Amino acid sequence: MLRVGIIGTGDIANLNIQGYIHSQDAELVAVSDIDVSNVGEKLERWGLRTLKIYTDFKKMIDHENLDIIEILTPHHLHYPMTEYAAKAGILGISVQKPLAHTITDCERMIKICEEENVKLKLYENFRFYPPYLRAKELLDSGIIGELLSFRINTILTGGPSMPRGLKSLTWRIKVDTCGGGPLVYDDGIHKFSLALWLMGQQKVEKLHGWIDYFTSVMDAPSYMLWKYPSQNPNEPPKYGTMQFTMATNVYYPSNYYDCDEFIEISGTKGIMWLNQCTSGGNFVSKSLENPPIVTYVDGEVKSYGKDLPRDWRYSFINSTEHFIKVIKEGGTPIYTGEQGRDLCIFAKMPYISHQQKRTVTWNEITAENEQNQSCYVKQPVNLVEGGLTKYNRRSRSDLRKGIKQGLEHNVFKYQYEE
Ligand SMILES: NC(=O)c1ccc[n+]([C@@H]2O[C@H](COP(=O)([O-])OP(=O)(O)OC[C@H]3O[C@@H](n4cnc5c(N)ncnc54)[C@H](O)[C@@H]3O)[C@@H](O)[C@H]2O)c1
Repeated sequence: MLRVGIIGTGDIANLNIQGYIHSQDAELVAVSDIDVSNVGEKLERWGLRTLKIYTDFKKMIDHENLDIIEILTPHHLHYPMTEYAAKAGILGISVQKPLAHTITDCERMIKICEEENVKLKLYENFRFYPPYLRAKELLDSGIIGELLSFRINTILTGGPSMPRGLKSLTWRIKVDTCGGGPLVYDDGIHKFSLALWLMGQQKVEKLHGWIDYFTSVMDAPSYMLWKYPSQNPNEPPKYGTMQFTMATNVYYPSNYYDCDEFIEISGTKGIMWLNQCTSGGNFVSKSLENPPIVTYVDGEVKSYGKDLPRDWRYSFINSTEHFIKVIKEGGTPIYTGEQGRDLCIFAKMPYISHQQKRTVTWNEITAENEQNQSCYVKQPVNLVEGGLTKYNRRSRSDLRKGIKQGLEHNVFKYQYEE
């Protein structure tokens, strides 16, 4: 049995533990957090009351003889924690996305894990969402021909959703601890991952981004447009776009975060639409109009994946199970440290573009340019104060109105709930 420890028992720990709970090959033995005020209650809820709790992650690593560690903390801590765990001889280090808040730290993490012969995983779970795995198979089979364009819209909705403390927002809105903003850099890593993986690409050539900080804390609404590199002069040009839409007045139940994703991919033979991810399983999924995968090819519209679980937590279970297998049997984590760094490069590009008001190229986003400050994400300034309060007030009051009119969360049940 592989021994697993977790650093950081905040919001995402609820999902990261899911792949270990029923595992035959790995067991959670300890958790650590500097704030243990609600850890006991969480362990009780997870059915793991007997786990050891540490306030110092170093002591947990020193005493628990761990094989795997999960790092689920603010981004600026990912490097120091990885360094300590790698030097202590832990076999596998799984770091929640993004790999780090700077490219400099990403490079350090890759180096130390290479030197200490440790498997470093960047934990990006959307890549393991069952409908996306099926979509990838279909795309690879050439169902819509050669892929020409990718478009993803993340809609931020009004919930109701899982409860979240303000604590997890405070470090996300600071560039020093997050590396960018809560949406494009933090959540965006998932979306940049899909933009590369589904399109069969390793990187982008150049990108232009526009970020509106109208709430003063969230980096949205935001729009990004990029060009994929061309492999040969005869191939058609390939582009991608991404947007984060603030629609926080929309009543949209979710068991997790207040958002959902919609993707459209065009190819030389057809079009594919992918409906929903984070809030998959809710009312929209249950309607006949929104199967998880829809294609248009040669005059025919078809849907796929209706047999698959749409609950987002399966993406976590699949991702964790994959890593356990890699540590037990050998192989390469999805993603590797290098791929994790590349996703950070992609996610930094929109901020540099927005701040410097120009198109940026992939090759500019390096540790060196970060250190000489020519390509360094800066904390946004001159934002309207009180924006968050106004934003929260408006979306909450709309939600209250909706609930009074009979929109009640408690009638909503997941299709795959046990
Ligand atoms: N995959 C996803 O969909 C997803 C979703 C949300 C968050 N995340 C990622 O998960 C990570 C954690 O995010 P979160 O939302 O759970 O944040 P959070 O703020 O809810 O939790 C972070 C926890 O780390 C603890 N912590 C801080 N410093 C520590 C230290 N020195 N030692 C031990 N614990 C310490 C905090 O007390 C807190 O409990 C981030 O990398 C985030 O980007 C991923």
